[in-house]
Parts: sequence; C-alpha cells; structure tokens
Amino acid sequence: MTGAPTLPAEHSSHAIATRPIAIVTGGSEGIGLAIAHLLAGRGHDLLLVARRADALEQAAASIKAEHSVEVTTVSLDLTRADCLDVLDRELARLGRHPHILVNNAGIGHSGDFSEASPGELDRLVALNVVTPGRLMRHMIPGMRTRRAGGIINIASLGGYVPGPYQAAYYASKAYLISLSEALAAEVKADGVRVTVVAPGPINTEFHAKMGAENALYRRWLPASSPATVARWAVFGFELGLRTVVPGFLNLVGAVALRLLPHVVLVPVMAWLLDPRRPAERGAQDHAGGASGRGGDRGDR
Ligand SMILES: NC(=O)c1ccc[n+]([C@@H]2O[C@H](COP(=O)([O-])OP(=O)(O)OC[C@H]3O[C@@H](n4cnc5c(N)ncnc54)[C@H](OP(=O)(O)O)[C@@H]3O)[C@@H](O)[C@H]2O)c1
Repeated sequence: MTGAPTLPAEHSSHAIATRPIAIVTGGSEGIGLAIAHLLAGRGHDLLLVARRADALEQAAASIKAEHSVEVTTVSLDLTRADCLDVLDRELARLGRHPHILVNNAGIGHSGDFSEASPGELDRLVALNVVTPGRLMRHMIPGMRTRRAGGIINIASLGGYVPGPYQAAYYASKAYLISLSEALAAEVKADGVRVTVVAPGPINTEFHAKMGAENALYRRWLPASSPATVARWAVFGFELGLRTVVPGFLNLVGAVALRLLPHVVLVPVMAWLLDPRRPAERGAQDHAGGASGRGGDRGDR
C-alpha cells in the first residue's frame, strides 16, 4: 500500500496486511452486524465501532465463530469531537488502511419536532449527518491515493420524502443520499466506490428505541431482515451501484416517492409515522388533548 493520508507517517511504511479491513460503524447489532458478517464471509478483517463494549464483544465473538478473520472492536461514541483521532490511533496500532467504510450507525427520533429536546436533535444530526461526512472526508483521500476501496452509506427510503413525526430523521437521510451520490460522481475516476443504501423498514430495535413501535408503518408496511438488507448493500457495492434500494416493493416505493407530489405524500407519511403512543394518548385524552404524539423515550 502506498500513500496513507489516514495513517500517521510512521505507520504508513509497514501497513501491509494480508486481508483488507472494513470499518463498520454501529457494527454491534442490527444492519451493521449483518453487513459485518457478510464482509467477513468475503475475507475482510473488521473494525467494529459502537458505544456499548459488551454488545461489541458479543458481535465480534459471533463473527469469529463463523469466519476466520480478525475482528477489532472500538467502544466509541462517534459524535465525540476526537472520534477521528481515536479511529486513526486504532488503525495505526493495527498498521492498516481502511479498505471499506460502512457508515451505518444512526438513531431516529419519533414525535413532534417542536416538542423534541434540543439535545436529542443535536445528537441525531451529529450522528446521522456530521459523523458520516467527517468519516468520508477523512478516509476518501487515502482511498483515492490507493485507487482502491470505497464507502457504503446506510440511508433510508425516508430520505426521499419529508417525514412528519420523524422529521429530523428523514431530513438527515436526505442529506446522506445527496452527499453520497455527489461524492460517488467525484471519486469514480479514481477507482473508489460510494454506494448509498435506502432500505424500507427493517426488523431491528431501531424503532422501539425511538418509541415508534405503535406507528402504523410498523403494522402495515412489510419489514425485511437485517440480513436481507446486508446482502443488497454489499452486492450493490460490489457491482459499483451508486444507489441501492433493497427489495422490489421498496423499489416501487422509491419510484412512487420520487414521482408523487409532496402535497399528496406528506399527509400519508404523517398518518403512517404518527407514533400513537398509548400512554400519552390516554393522558392527553384525559386532559382533553386530541393526539398521542410528541415526546421521546430518551436516548436511544
Ligand atoms: N431499522 C430500520 O427500519 C432502518 C431502515 C432504514 C434505514 N435504517 C438505518 O440503518 C442504520 C442501522 O439501523 P439499525 O436498524 O441496525 O439500528 P440499531 O439496531 O438501533 O443499531 C444501531 C447501531 O448504531 C450504534 N450507535 C448508536 N449510536 C451510536 C453512537 N453515538 N456512536 C457509535 N455507535 C452508535 C449502536 O450501538 P450502541 O448503541 O452501543 O452505540 C448500534 O450498533 C441506521 O443508520 C438507520 O437509520 C434503519
């Protein structure tokens, strides 16, 4: 390997590895863990990043039980200001350059935007918007120099439409889709791939963490497994696709979201996304309120 903008100079000369290494943010559970399993099956060593060390260790053990790869875990809040330094130090310790970066870690927010705590919204923007941008800006120059590797960004179908009651989350994914597609065009000539994945609902803890399990989209829209999304994501990346919408129904949905006017779509999204929290609805009904919306269940 040559040219190592993402590694300190003293490590660049001996950064020789037999297998490529992939960084998976949010790799301890859900979609991130499923992608990590798939990449391990394709011969990648892994650097898994999430906050909870115990969940990371469990994830690493499950991967190593199935695949003969090295799995390193970094317990890190990716919204921390020194996140890039922490990851650089870990890569330098391993003597590795990142071959694939999977920007997967993300949180949602369910409820009235106007009633959300400012801290909650700041955390969402920091993790879903700022972090993937910082990681890409930091790691893409090295990939371009090496003319190898690339980025898989996990966005959402929600990035194609405004989402009342998940307003900040949907907006954050719109940013990620736009940034990814633009960046893919900028780096294509240098042999670097950027693929953005826009899944529909997936059965993970994500929805319960933001208190959205009673929203109608959870009951009425079909949900896929993390493994299914992971297969689409990795296969799409290998094919060099810029955008991947996993599954036929989601593809139809993505086309509809792009074609139908927002004056029609947005009220439908509001109806699907209203969190309909029973306790709050009961309390508000009791107090004469009309809606069970608003509020959060803390962080997630
Ligand atoms: N589930 C869906 O229906 C769905 C649909 C479309 C798109 N997506 C997107 O897919 C991605 C993964 O979602 P998922 O359903 O797999 O979610 P999940 O099961 O809740 O997993 C989230 C992962 O992110 C990590 N994480 C959260 N906050 C973090 C932070 N501040 N720093 C570092 N790591 C953090 C979590 O670990 P810790 O909590 O230990 O940090 C966990 O590993 C997200 O970007 C989400 O927006 C999900």
